[in-house]
Amino acid sequence: AHVDPTAVTNLSKDTNSLSLCCNNTARLSSNSWTFNKTLSNLIRKNILRFLDPERDISILKGTLKPGDIIHYVFDRHSTTNISENLYRLLPTASPMKNQHHRRCAIVGNSGILLNSSCGPEIDSHDFVIRCNLAPVEDYYQDVGWRTNLVTMNPSVVQRAFQDLVSEEWRDRFLQRLQSLSGSVLWIPAFMAKGGEERVEWALRLILLHTVDVRTAFPSLRLLHAVRGYWLTNNVHIKRPTTGLLMYTMATRFCEEIHLYGFWPFPLDPQGRPVKYHYYDTLKYEYTSSSSPHTMPLEFRTLSTLHRQGALQLHTGACD
Ligand code: CTP
Repeated sequence: AHVDPTAVTNLSKDTNSLSLCCNNTARLSSNSWTFNKTLSNLIRKNILRFLDPERDISILKGTLKPGDIIHYVFDRHSTTNISENLYRLLPTASPMKNQHHRRCAIVGNSGILLNSSCGPEIDSHDFVIRCNLAPVEDYYQDVGWRTNLVTMNPSVVQRAFQDLVSEEWRDRFLQRLQSLSGSVLWIPAFMAKGGEERVEWALRLILLHTVDVRTAFPSLRLLHAVRGYWLTNNVHIKRPTTGLLMYTMATRFCEEIHLYGFWPFPLDPQGRPVKYHYYDTLKYEYTSSSSPHTMPLEFRTLSTLHRQGALQLHTGACD
């Protein structure tokens, strides 16, 4: 395979102009895409200089005890304590230990997935990663249903499950957790203050109902290490999104990485409206300067990697 040795350091070349739509990224050809194994290996090697996703995917039980004080990664002056429940649900070994998969799908939450018919294609991968407990049941034709790893930002409990205010919402949340049977539930509990109670509710439900998920709580160094990797490659992200975090970590476990549902633009290449999330009414907040994310910049970076064959970005309908 052809390798551009400057590929990884030149990622920012066509990534510095942010706009509302897709411009030069509109034509992401999938027919002519071929996997560049050499480049993908090189990226894995470079990422390993900054983090070891096998280790950083979760804090392990042996390293903490109940009552320990943790400083939030983004709110250094605020602290939280390791609760009994959290301690009980810390894994004793990395949930991704010795895992290697040939083809992985990472499913982002963009409305671009609607009417894509990509469900079966997504489910055909060896390992499927989803973000923020996004619903699958009513959308399986477009997004598939298999889930090997799913993330859960604490804010999801509020945004998608009404802060569990009623029995009905608690039931819905529990059902979503129970549907994950056997998969890894990745909870960034120590990133930003404010989510403590929401995490605790989730953990309590998992323990009370012996929900069959393997919980993981990212290491405190993960975010900075991921940001460091991209900064070193001239990609100036403020705070990596869940989707970029998953791609960065997946390079460790996956040979070929396929991304679906990554489209942070309100219009598709044909100029038709695209929902921010395929499943709710949330708006394009990232365009505001207060948002910690730089999604269009991330998207252009991923597009560059797509063109170089390091990953495949699927933005159209599936056959
Ligand atoms: N995503 C995207 N385009 C959108 C929406 C989402 O490319 N219109 C991708 C992003 O990589 C995002 C991931 O899908 O991280 C999951 O979406 P979401 O749940 O909205 O994640 P975040 O917004 O990153 O969550 P948070 O702000 O809580 O980190």
